[in-house]
Amino acid sequence: MGKSFDIGLERLTGIGVPGDGQPQEGGVKPPLQDGDGAVSASLEEKTRTLKGAGCGTHTSEGATFYLETFGCQMNDHDSEKVAGVLLARGYRQVDGPEAAKVILYNTCSIREKAAQKVFSRLGELRPVEATELRWIEESKLGLGKSANLEIGVPRAEDAEQRSGGVRTRRLQSAGKIIGVLGCVAQQEGEGIFERAPWVSLVCGSASYRKLPQLIAELEAGNRRVTGLDTDTDETFETEITRRDNPFRAYLTIIEGCDKACSYCVVPFTRGPERSRASASILEEVRQLAEAGYSEVQLLGQTVNSYADPSARKMRFSELLAAVAEVRGIRRVRFTTSHPRDFGKDIVEAIDAHPTICDQVHLPVQSGSTAVLRAMARTYTREEYLEKIALLKAARRPISISTDVIVGFPGETEKDFEETLSLLDEVQYDNVFAFKYSPRPNTPSLKMADAIPEEEKGRRLAILMDRQREIQRVRNEKLVGEMFEVLVDGKSRRENPSGVRASQWSGHTSSNRVVNFTSPEQELLGDYVQVKVTKAMPHSLVGEMVGRG
Ligand code: 5AD
Ligand code: SF4
Repeated sequence: MGKSFDIGLERLTGIGVPGDGQPQEGGVKPPLQDGDGAVSASLEEKTRTLKGAGCGTHTSEGATFYLETFGCQMNDHDSEKVAGVLLARGYRQVDGPEAAKVILYNTCSIREKAAQKVFSRLGELRPVEATELRWIEESKLGLGKSANLEIGVPRAEDAEQRSGGVRTRRLQSAGKIIGVLGCVAQQEGEGIFERAPWVSLVCGSASYRKLPQLIAELEAGNRRVTGLDTDTDETFETEITRRDNPFRAYLTIIEGCDKACSYCVVPFTRGPERSRASASILEEVRQLAEAGYSEVQLLGQTVNSYADPSARKMRFSELLAAVAEVRGIRRVRFTTSHPRDFGKDIVEAIDAHPTICDQVHLPVQSGSTAVLRAMARTYTREEYLEKIALLKAARRPISISTDVIVGFPGETEKDFEETLSLLDEVQYDNVFAFKYSPRPNTPSLKMADAIPEEEKGRRLAILMDRQREIQRVRNEKLVGEMFEVLVDGKSRRENPSGVRASQWSGHTSSNRVVNFTSPEQELLGDYVQVKVTKAMPHSLVGEMVGRG
């Protein structure tokens, strides 16, 4: 049998185990432990680019774009929609910024490190000419900032005056449209133009409805356009969504967040809650099923706070059930749930519909009621545990994952121990843990008793060790069990045993990653039965025993 490896598909695709693809609260997909403070083997800080494909009909035939996405599943899906908007205008998507006329970064600002990433990317795109002109201004003219630089990228005619036209051509050839989308765009606003004058588009996610118009303005020659309003009751729906994942289709059902957790930027960057009409959601699910998707994941920062704006007034649990009943749909996931809005009706819907996956991501953030209060989480430890009890009372085992923040201001050693004891009590299947990161505009920014970075790191390491051991023991118990696996990856590794069997990977309904061998030639997209032969903290290893 092939050598087993405990990385699962998540290392390849940026998805976690089992909390794959969560736009967890705050909209962040579970990250790698990379110093930014995450416990689990998945990638937040990894970035993703949608592969170039397709072509539309509109105004910009022949133009190309490059789109790179940071952060959560919501951002990934927003990027799929942005790509759809551009493709519909006749753009072609390319794999690198060099070949692109339009370069877009869809950004994340949930923690400081994530936000910094975009500025380092933008730094890479700084036009050579801008640097050179600044040098000319400051060293030769002795004037400090030039008028040009104050208003942004040097004008071509100025460059021409100084260097006889050569520089003009270089400036024009460097004349790509560079745009910043998403949470950093919303947070920094026009300040981005000051930090990176070569940027021409700044648009937060709450204004994506305006994107086609903003792009049209850029095409018409406008040098700078912004979409920064958050006072909208509209959601971002598009005619075409360029879906990147061939096996799992994402659908945003609610955007923004009306909670006000004291550490979180999301209410500022994504605006207030806006739900999409149930009929429109169901219609899209039907279309997805017809297009061959059997798995859908409903997305929202607080997905279970869904409030149908139409006369139908479907509750979230009713919507789940209706999606689960769409012909052709075999798996329905939803993320992220907020504990306060998590009721028995959701568990009843899971019980009643085998197509609703046995996986719930329920971020707790802390096991201490005192810290939860300071975080403005709106529940106590005990109330959270009542929700866990509902899940544990379900007819089939439901895999539960969570998010934890360590080192919140004022978190005592005793508070931290309460978080550890919560992990022991709940026995999560996965935990995404983060060091507290102070964020602009948030109430916790001004809170006293900040915890030193080193101490945050120490707590995070302890928590990770504790949870890894919990997962190891829990997964061990699965050896010998049979799971239905949707195959979504084929390993590039050759099987070293000499047996002609490929390495495949996929996800169970509980969203565990299973790596397995099979001599079959083609399994991608198939549902197969796999018997678990070995368990690791973040993935399972098995052998295929039949088709699903
Ligand atoms: N610092 C650290 N972690 C944070 N999260 C949200 N805001 C912060 C912050 N300021 C975490 C929460 C949330 C997840 C997506 O990111 O755990 O659920
Ligand atoms: Fe989640 Fe709270 Fe942030 Fe809303 S404010 S996205 S509920 S962490």
